Amino acid sequence: MQVGIDKIGFYAPSQYLDLTELAQARGEDPNKYLIGIGQSEQVVIPVTQDVVTMAASAASQVITDDNREKIAMVIFGTESGIDHSKSAAMYLKRLLHLPDQIRAIEVKQACYGATFGVQTAKDYVKANPEKQVLVIGADIARYGLNTPGEVTQGGGAVAMTIAAAPQILALDDATSFRSEDIMDFWRPLYRTEALVDGRYSENIYVDFFQAVFHDYCKTTGRTIADFAALTYHLPFTKMGLKGLRSVLPEASDTQQTRLKANFEASRVYNRRVGNLYTGSLYLSLMSLLANAALATGDRIGLFSYGSGAEGEFYSGTLVQSTPALAAKQQFDAYFKKRTKLSVAEYESCFKRQLPNHDVLLDTKADDARFVLTGIKHDQRQYVDRS
Ligand code: CAA
Repeated sequence: MQVGIDKIGFYAPSQYLDLTELAQARGEDPNKYLIGIGQSEQVVIPVTQDVVTMAASAASQVITDDNREKIAMVIFGTESGIDHSKSAAMYLKRLLHLPDQIRAIEVKQACYGATFGVQTAKDYVKANPEKQVLVIGADIARYGLNTPGEVTQGGGAVAMTIAAAPQILALDDATSFRSEDIMDFWRPLYRTEALVDGRYSENIYVDFFQAVFHDYCKTTGRTIADFAALTYHLPFTKMGLKGLRSVLPEASDTQQTRLKANFEASRVYNRRVGNLYTGSLYLSLMSLLANAALATGDRIGLFSYGSGAEGEFYSGTLVQSTPALAAKQQFDAYFKKRTKLSVAEYESCFKRQLPNHDVLLDTKADDARFVLTGIKHDQRQYVDRS
């Protein structure tokens, strides 16, 4: 029985920052951001959006009357949680009108959380093929104004349903993972911006990729030649390129050309959205499906990395390419409707954080279906405006 990604949805707010303009404001050569980092634009998150609203907008694309009653579990991967105790999955469950007979939980291990969700869901659906699992990766990536990490910010959500007889990607059984207690990137409870040892985190990322990729190959007997494409967690798109370059010498010239072309396809959307943390790998998968010339049965490798650190390499085969066309249309429409902010507007938006007391927010400028309208009696207030 095949189990895998049946549906996939994406949401990010519709305001963005042009990184050429940010480079000019920060006194950097724009090519450092565009080529050296591999990012051209970055989503800016308004105060009326958080991981719950973004996840709801993404998940509403994959939850329909056909599968709502089949959902047995919600696994919400995030490192931008809104409560130290209550899971974001519980708020999401209510906004999506999911049944009460389900498990709803939030998981955290930096950018790795959604991959834990996918693998746990795969095991669950194999044992319960009539059920489905909703997996979320939603985050807001914040490093701070005038920091080296500023160019690698962003945010948004990806939602996937994991089901038997999937429509998009049938997951292989094999997977290889590794975890080690490392301080490359972290965010203490009292901070809204991450702390990072930038160059060290890049090196650990590549080390983890090589370790799990080679372990996967050893266990399965597969080689790089078995993959039509390798996709990566993309905190910024040059990071994935560094991972790819570290194994390219293992491929023939023809394979290298194909893997490089498909890597380009897999970073088209990430370049313009920025870092989604938990959702980044899955946005990259969507970008690949929408922009590459792939055939049914092609094997795709996925490398997930969460600082701190946990890495996993797994794979799946493409079921059919029709959903890719729908994804392309959706992304074209999304990028077309976005509004560009000036650097000053971005800075003011970045500084505008939710207060720690009751507040009523003005949601007029937010065009999302799900919005945060404020805080009342220390409880976040969410509205579905459909
Ligand atoms: N034209 C073209 N390229 C240029 C250039 C120019 N004019 N000027 C500089 N560059 C290149 C540099 O040569 C360098 O390339 P390499 O990485 O290939 O050597 C690149 O641009 C970046 O330059 P710097 O290293 O000088 O940049 P920096 O010191 O300002 O910081 C960074 C870069 C470390 C990535 C920083 O943005 C950062 O800390 N980001 C956050 C950390 C991060 O994302 N780490 C990734 C692994 S951790 C993870 O994946 C989890 C997660 O989501 C956070």
